[in-house]
Amino acid sequence: MAKVGIFVGSSGGVTLGAAQKLAELFEGAELINMEEDYDAQFDDFDVLLIGSSTWGQGDVQRDWVDPLYEMQNEEPDFSGKKVAFFGAGDQKSHPEEFVTALGKMKDIFTKLGANTEFGYTSTDGYAYKHSAAEKNGKFCGLAIDDINQEDLTKERIHAWAAQVKNEMGIKKSF
Ligand SMILES: Cc1cc2nc3c(=O)[nH]c(=O)nc-3n(C[C@H](O)[C@H](O)[C@H](O)COP(=O)(O)O)c2cc1C
Repeated sequence: MAKVGIFVGSSGGVTLGAAQKLAELFEGAELINMEEDYDAQFDDFDVLLIGSSTWGQGDVQRDWVDPLYEMQNEEPDFSGKKVAFFGAGDQKSHPEEFVTALGKMKDIFTKLGANTEFGYTSTDGYAYKHSAAEKNGKFCGLAIDDINQEDLTKERIHAWAAQVKNEMGIKKSF
């Protein structure tokens, strides 16, 4: 059974809420809040679900800034790891960089050798101008917008969990 680690950075609790729901849906997964567990060990896990909201002008959430900087400097080997991304944004107030953090993190993990071709989702149903999370016409992860589309969040999380489990070959428990 693959060991699943859910690593999350969230300032207002939206992405953390999604991470908690994912922890329920991925049976046996461990939830690591980057705010409390800065030295989190990615090594312990086969599957990484990486969550960050987007801040500033398309920046990753603050608890990810130092860890990502260190990763880029130290270049740990992520080959063999299956990684998928999720996070909250606001397409109405920040349409120029909607959930851009997902794209930035994907680029870093991919460069370090991780397989990040999981959990891509359709951009249909969202309205924004630009997002670095858009890769080949799809979001490279789960885009949550609790501010404008709160009613869709729960079903988006459930559908994404099922999709990622299927794509990664993780046994379904729901
Ligand atoms: C100052 C500020 C800057 C923001 N910048 C962005 C942005 O560039 N892109 C985006 O999609 N959302 C942006 N947002 C919206 C947040 O990502 C959104 O509120 C999200 O729900 C926060 O998630 P969290 O509670 O998990 O931290 C910004 C919000 C604030 C207050």
